Amino acid sequence: MTAAPVLGASADPRLLGRDVHRIAFDERAISARVKELGAEITAAYPDGDLLVLGLLKGSFVFLADLVREIRRPLHVDFLVASSYGAGTVSSGSVELVYDPETVLEGKHILLVEDIVDSGRTLNRLIAVLGERAPKSIEICALLHKRIAGALAREARFVGFDAPNEFLVGYGLDHAENFRHLPYVASLR
Ligand code: IMP
Ligand code: MG
Repeated sequence: MTAAPVLGASADPRLLGRDVHRIAFDERAISARVKELGAEITAAYPDGDLLVLGLLKGSFVFLADLVREIRRPLHVDFLVASSYGAGTVSSGSVELVYDPETVLEGKHILLVEDIVDSGRTLNRLIAVLGERAPKSIEICALLHKRIAGALAREARFVGFDAPNEFLVGYGLDHAENFRHLPYVASLR
């Protein structure tokens, strides 16, 4: 016997007919935590130029909410690193597909990531960005699976410790689907 789904396929037309096994973080929990992160980040950067650098595509929803909770001047840019393709397991190679055009030298860089899984993406990016002489580099991740081995830089700002399941929603995808769910869930 299988347990009933938390959210049936028919209950949310965004779900492509899939059942949600578990809603890990709902809209209200995410919104409350993003406000706290915004306050933490505001306090952490009393001065200097702050560049919020979103890792596409997964961070786009989180970043949009987060920057509106940061009460100080900032700039936004993005970079694209591709590692997963359509699978659910990291391929291990991280490719920079789009490189930010903004000058990083002398700036505080806040790298915004949807989720830290193996940590390979961040390890690679920290190395690449570090060569451009920023004043500081910190990581803000919405979710952290806490399974990564040696991280070149641990995330300073983390929304939630995540269950070791494949999660979708609030920017996170499976084969490009489900990014627009307002909650984070694991599918059946
Ligand atoms: P890492 O390099 O293994 O840490 O993987 C980081 C990237 O893999 C994230 O930015 C996500 O795009 C993707 N990823 C890792 N875990 C998940 C997941 O549970 N759901 C969706 N995407 C994930
Ligand atoms: Mg991704």
